[in-house]
Amino acid sequence: MYRIIIYIALLLPATILFADSHRPLDFLASIAGAHDEGEQIVRHYCANCHAVNPLIPLGAPRQQIPADWEARVRQGMSILLQHTAEGLRAMPARGGCFECTDEQLLLAVLAMLPPTSGLVEHKKDNKIKILNKKAKLIQKSPDNLKK
Ligand code: HEC
Repeated sequence: MYRIIIYIALLLPATILFADSHRPLDFLASIAGAHDEGEQIVRHYCANCHAVNPLIPLGAPRQQIPADWEARVRQGMSILLQHTAEGLRAMPARGGCFECTDEQLLLAVLAMLPPTSGLVEHKKDNKIKILNKKAKLIQKSPDNLKK
């Protein structure tokens, strides 16, 4: 009997924690338009590899660590987004978030960039202010990525 209670006690939080990732479309719809939409996508889809101490250490640039992003940001926003969409070496296409729209991937990339990139300013509550004109255009319509 005790064993069953222990199993339930262990399983319940795990079910709640992972429930979102099992219904990605519901999860993405539930955070659409939130001030920290990009940050939430990073936490669910990208952090396994991009966290400062990643679960899967593949050498991915770490979230908001300036030195990791310097050279990558210099390629320009369009290349960063193209590599995110197509995948790059050990990184899967769309960072593994196949349900994410181009705009959501952009928000996730912006949430990972350090303030030193000059592209974003991180406000309170993970809110992001986009400073770069091109990124703003792309956010308005991902079609602008091709321009
Ligand atoms: C399975 C691990 C993994 C996941 C999950 C992952 N990435 Fe990556 N990512 C990498 C690795 C590894 C690199 C470095 C690739 C290289 O340069 O060899 C990378 C590089 C990048 C880059 C830099 C690309 C460039 O041009 O230098 C961006 C932007 C990026 N990832 C965005 C994302 C986003 C957004 C997500 C989540 C939606 C994500 N990644 C999820 C492993 C991952």
